[in-house]
Parts: sequence; C-alpha cells; structure tokens
Amino acid sequence: MPRLLIVYHSQTGGTEALATAASVGAAAIAQTETIVKRAADASAGDLLAADGLLLGTPENFGYMSGMLKDFFDRAYYACENKVTGRPYSVFVCAGNDGTGAMREVDRIVTGLRMRKVHPGVIARRVGGMAGSSRGHLDPADIAQAQELGGTLAAGLAYGIF
Ligand SMILES: Cc1cc2nc3c(=O)[nH]c(=O)nc-3n(C[C@H](O)[C@H](O)[C@H](O)COP(=O)(O)O)c2cc1C
Repeated sequence: MPRLLIVYHSQTGGTEALATAASVGAAAIAQTETIVKRAADASAGDLLAADGLLLGTPENFGYMSGMLKDFFDRAYYACENKVTGRPYSVFVCAGNDGTGAMREVDRIVTGLRMRKVHPGVIARRVGGMAGSSRGHLDPADIAQAQELGGTLAAGLAYGIF
C-alpha cells in the first residue's frame, strides 16, 4: 500500500488545523496509508519510507518555521538521491503573505529532486493583524487543505504520480 507522509509544524494551531484537514482528506482514500508527524518527531527514515510527502508550515519572518527547517537539516543528506521523483506538495499558514515560506520549502525539496504535483495551499488568517497569530482561518482554506490531502493520497493510490 502506498504511504503518504504529512510533516508539519504549528505554534498557534493554524497549520495544525490544515494538517488535520489534509489528513482527513487523505484518510478518505483507503488504498493509501497516511502518516502524520510533527516536524520535531519526523526523521529521515520516515521520509525514506514514504511514497509521497505533504509539508505544512507557518510563515515566520518570510520563511518556513525553524522546526520544519530543522527537519530538513536532519533529514536532507540521508535522503539525497533516494527520494528522486517522489510527489510532494506544501501547505502554509500565514498572517498576511505565505509566499516566502512556500518558495523556500520548494527550494529545499527541489534539491531533493522531488516533484511538486499540486501547487499547494496558502491559508492567510483573516480578521486579525498582519504578522500576528490573530485572526481565524477561512473555512474555504481548510477545505482546500482537505482536498490537497485527498489529491495526494488518490494520486498515490491510483498510480497517477
Ligand atoms: C515570529 C512570527 C513571525 C511571523 N512572520 C510572518 C510572516 O513573515 N509573514 C506572514 O504572513 N505571517 C507571519 N506570521 C504569522 C503566522 O504565520 C501566522 O500566525 C500563522 O497562522 C502561524 O501558524 P500556526 O498557527 O500554525 O503557528 C508570523 C508569526 C510569528 C509568531
């Protein structure tokens, strides 16, 4: 059975809500096993054992969270040349932007020669102050994250990627 790994970090719950939604979407595809790990608990072995990858991060200072970067720092060399061509995508939770985190995650994963099979989701908090953790997530973004999980899991299950 193909395996989808969801790795994320969240400090104030936004990215976690997206990760939960993505895992619900993925779990609807019974032919794919879905594993969800916080970045601090994820290892190179988890990535090597996965057929596809979904990464989730807040945008912090225009970049990915330090904890997701730490995951890459720990896993990169062990996975280099061993995950080539495997599908991935990204979800970002942001105060007002999110593009910097998305771009920088892509830069690292492109270095691993994985294939981005979905443009990903950027969820910007609404009703709060820019750059703060305030505001709430738009239900449409949660739905998009759920769809993203389902898309990755279905693509793995049906051999589309
Ligand atoms: C230290 C810090 C830096 C942040 N920097 C940015 C930023 O550069 N761009 C942005 O859009 N939001 C920024 N934010 C807002 C967070 O991305 C936003 O609150 C996000 O929802 C946090 O995700 P989480 O709830 O999963 O922790 C920042 C928040 C913190 C705490």
